[in-house]
Order: sequence, then structure tokens, then C-alpha cells
Amino acid sequence: MLPILAPFPSTRLRRMRRTAALRDLAQEFELTAKDLIWPLFITDVPGADAPVASMPGVSRLTLEGAVRAAETAAGLGIPAICLFPYTDPVLRTEGCEEAWNPENLSNRVIRAIKAEVPEVAVMTDIALDPYNANGHDGLVRGGVILNDETVEALVRMALAQAEAGADILGPSDMMDGRIGAMRSALEAAGHADVAILSYAAKYASAFYGPFRDAVGASDRLVGDKKTYQMNPGNSDEAIRLVARDLAEGADMVMVKPGMAYLDICHRVKQAFGVPTYAYQVSGEYAMIKGAVLNGWVKEAVIAESLLAFKRAGCDGILTYFAPDVARALKG
Ligand code: PBG
Repeated sequence: MLPILAPFPSTRLRRMRRTAALRDLAQEFELTAKDLIWPLFITDVPGADAPVASMPGVSRLTLEGAVRAAETAAGLGIPAICLFPYTDPVLRTEGCEEAWNPENLSNRVIRAIKAEVPEVAVMTDIALDPYNANGHDGLVRGGVILNDETVEALVRMALAQAEAGADILGPSDMMDGRIGAMRSALEAAGHADVAILSYAAKYASAFYGPFRDAVGASDRLVGDKKTYQMNPGNSDEAIRLVARDLAEGADMVMVKPGMAYLDICHRVKQAFGVPTYAYQVSGEYAMIKGAVLNGWVKEAVIAESLLAFKRAGCDGILTYFAPDVARALKG
């Protein structure tokens, strides 16, 4: 699309920037509380409901704390929260059985929030890393991350979460074939209305470090996740992954991390026109928050960083800044 531009001085683009009213009128994109999904870390390990050192301002929450956070979200007009469990170390096994226990922490918190704050959508995480002795998202045998066996485990996990009342399932594991397997299992089990937000284009990123601290996976992780998460040097592959996940029944797709991958957000939205989300991940949060706390940048960079996702084409953003930003937007 070529803009119609009369030569200067007929066209003076500064005219529409002269006053706040004119700037408001001409504004193309806007960030609202409705665009936000708030990730929460939860735990039932005594003493672990504490601040996460590498994420200043973020703490792990108890079940009661998570319900209160959901109430806060409702009060601020944030439509969804997303749960990430810090699992008791004794429940982290090679077989990851706790992941599909109907009574596991995550499933108990889903039920509690849906009982007390039903208007807030509950999104979950589907991946084995919070339950895995070796910190990987998939089952590991002989140092190899197994795809098809992992998908079977993820399907069990998905069904348990759907049964607990989750509104949106968030497979973050990057195994091949998991979306289709989950979608048909959900249909067969009477959970046709449960949505899937696929972490479709998830890169093997160093920006996840603080998250792994928060869920207690940092010290456990053996090796890296490069055989299943994407190579940061790739762009076309993201389009193939999104196309594949949509074809298998994903309702929404995600690009992750966010700020360093805005080109991917833009390509995905342009190519498919489907509900597209970005995850402003823990490392992005830590960088921005750290600089704000040091007085090196103004707090305004937070909203500016989130508006960038809207401009790139995203319909929403997962961000640890969700309550702060929603509060600021309320004025
Ligand atoms: C793991 C998972 C990760 C994140 C969400 N789910 C970390 C990883 O892949 O190692 C990262 C989120 C963040 O950094 O904020 N299934």
C-alpha cells in the first residue's frame, strides 16, 4: 500500500502531531487490559511461595494467592491468567507421572479459580519440565528427547487439565504432532469447547533463564532444548510450524520470546490472520524491570514495549507486567 503524499508544504505530517487530541485521533494501535494474559507461578511447597530473585516484583503464589491474583485480574479487566507450577522436588521423576495427576497442584488451582472467579479465563502450560527429573519438556531416554511417547503423556496432561476446568490449553513443549493428538482426544472426551493456544513458534532462547529459576528447572536441566525448540536463525520455519498447528486444530498461536522476534509476530499475522499472541518472557521482564529499578530507563518503556506487539500484529501478550500495566492504563 503506497501512501498518497502531496509534496511539502501541502503535506506536513507534523500537523497531526500538534496536540494530544489530534495525536489520539490519528493513533493506529492501542494497548488495553483486554490484550493481556498474566502468567502466575504457583507452588504448594512450604517456603517456596517467595520472591523469584531473577524476576524482581514476581513471587510464587500459593493456591489462595493464585485465587486472589485471579480476583485482581478480574478487577483490572485482564481476561486471562496462565498457570506455571513449581513442583515439589520429590514429584519430579523420569516418567513425569505427576503431570497428569488429576489432583496435582496445577489442576487444584484451576478448580479453585474456576469456582471462585469463573469470569477469568484460565490458561495452562502443557509440557513436562515442571515434573521432569531432568528439566526437559519431553521424556528422555538415553539422552534423546522422545517425541511420540511425550505426545502421549501430553495428551494425558491435557485431558486432566480440561477435566479440571481449564479454558485454554497452552502446549509449550514443541513436540511434533501434539496439537492434533490433543484436539482429537479432547473431542473424544467431551471437551470440544476447550481452546488450544499453541506455542507454535517457540525458539531455543536464553531469554527463558529467570523462568527456569521460578519453576525450579534451572539446576535440573541437562543439556539444552535445541532438538525441539526452534533455531533463532530461522523465520520460514515459523510459518511452517504455525500452518501445521492450525491444520491440526489450534485456535490461537504464539510466538515466543517476544521483543527479539517481532518480525515473526508480523509475518505470522500477515500470513494467517488468526489470533496471534506473543510471550514477553521472563528474561525480557528481568531486563526491563532491572533497568527501571535502577533508574536507567523510565517506567514508560513497559507500556511502549507492549504496544510494539500490537503494532506487529499481535492480538494479545503474555506478560508478567500485566497487573502493573492494567493499573497504569486505568489511570
Ligand atoms: C517450558 C516453558 C518455558 C517457558 C514457558 N514454558 C521455558 C523453557 O522452554 O525452557 C518460558 C517462559 C518465560 O521465560 O517467561 N515448557
